[in-house]
Amino acid sequence: MQELKNKKILLIIGGGIAAYKSLELIRSLKKYGSQLEVILTSSGRKFVTELSVSQLAEREVHTDLFDLKSELKMGHINLSRNADIIVVAPATANLISRLAHGMADELATATLLASNKPIIIVPAMNPQMWNNPATQKNLMSIKKFGYHFCGPEIGETACGENGMGRMEEPSSIVHYINEYFSKKNKLKNKKAFVTAGPTIEPIDPVRYISNNSSGKQGYAIASALSKYGANTTLISGPSFEKAPEGVELIKVKTAMEMLDAVKSCSPADIGIFAAAVVDWKIKEYKDHKIKKNGYDRMLELIENVSVIQGVVKNNSLKPELSIGFAAETENIYENAKEKHSKNDLDWLLANDVSEDQDVFNGDYNSIVFFDRSGSETWQRMPKVDVAEKLVNKISEYFQ
Ligand SMILES: Cc1cc2nc3c(=O)[nH]c(=O)nc-3n(C[C@H](O)[C@H](O)[C@H](O)COP(=O)(O)O)c2cc1C
Repeated sequence: MQELKNKKILLIIGGGIAAYKSLELIRSLKKYGSQLEVILTSSGRKFVTELSVSQLAEREVHTDLFDLKSELKMGHINLSRNADIIVVAPATANLISRLAHGMADELATATLLASNKPIIIVPAMNPQMWNNPATQKNLMSIKKFGYHFCGPEIGETACGENGMGRMEEPSSIVHYINEYFSKKNKLKNKKAFVTAGPTIEPIDPVRYISNNSSGKQGYAIASALSKYGANTTLISGPSFEKAPEGVELIKVKTAMEMLDAVKSCSPADIGIFAAAVVDWKIKEYKDHKIKKNGYDRMLELIENVSVIQGVVKNNSLKPELSIGFAAETENIYENAKEKHSKNDLDWLLANDVSEDQDVFNGDYNSIVFFDRSGSETWQRMPKVDVAEKLVNKISEYFQ
């Protein structure tokens, strides 16, 4: 647990029965040399006492947003500014809901809302509470805000019911935090690019051909690469997604512009082709708006450039690890396999984008992953989790 030495950790203890485990968590983190500040929510104080927490943390515990002494130094801002990371354990259903809705009604929530640091959520609750659609919606919201999750696990909860919702054991939480810090260096000095979103191919100055890609998967991958320390460029077609922190964004429109941008970042260590590049373009672009009655009811199309082939098939531009995506609606396995070998990609992730799968524009994806030796299926999961899983695999490749 070398990464924990001298790390400044702000621990927030919510009002769940698992709060007693947080006392053990404080002991372990102290043992590995971390420096702790602790906030207890007002409900958290009903489960563990300030006295126990302050004795173990060897610090005064923070509880009150309107504490005159600490607010002289803007306590609710400074607590996060002075930390390397924030850990919320236990994170109750109520606390997660408050975070999802941007509430700042006590010291813990105000500090989290004002935070500029990574936040690890360690959920703990009854399985019905966990499975409740309201909780699941709140979890998805904060996942998209960039919060990290440690657990929960399946098992017997304090209420005697079995299922998902049990808080991870303190030893696992310690391990997770240590991994979080070591992860930041795993792709350090690696250069990566990710293409994302659709391209658009103009017909005339006001009309174009495009597709339904939202860019969510590519943006999530760029964000995960950056968190693992890679020097990441995101080359994106039109998308409403927000550029991830620490990532250089190059905005493009057409496939040709995308190819030029990818070439400008090549050769890279990691090249990920997640964009849905339009396969065809108009044979003859008109530089004036075609009148309603001025077109002959046939648009003549020609094949577009292939961004993947333009880079992967060129030895001086080829990334060390090239990864493509295949969006299919039928014969997914066969079509993806063909794309994998035709484009000479190292890895390929195939996803089913049929309408009923809600992948384009949705937050979930299910994947068939191909490498040069075979394939495996990744069950449906949030796109941010697909990104994390993929980038974890990439970091293992470079070990
Ligand atoms: C005995 C008892 C145990 C509780 N355990 C949990 C729990 O494990 N998880 C949870 O989400 N809520 C639990 N609750 C409900 C929370 O205490 C309640 O929602 C509280 O407002 C949460 O406060 P917080 O937002 O500061 O965490 C429990 C309540 C009681 C009375």
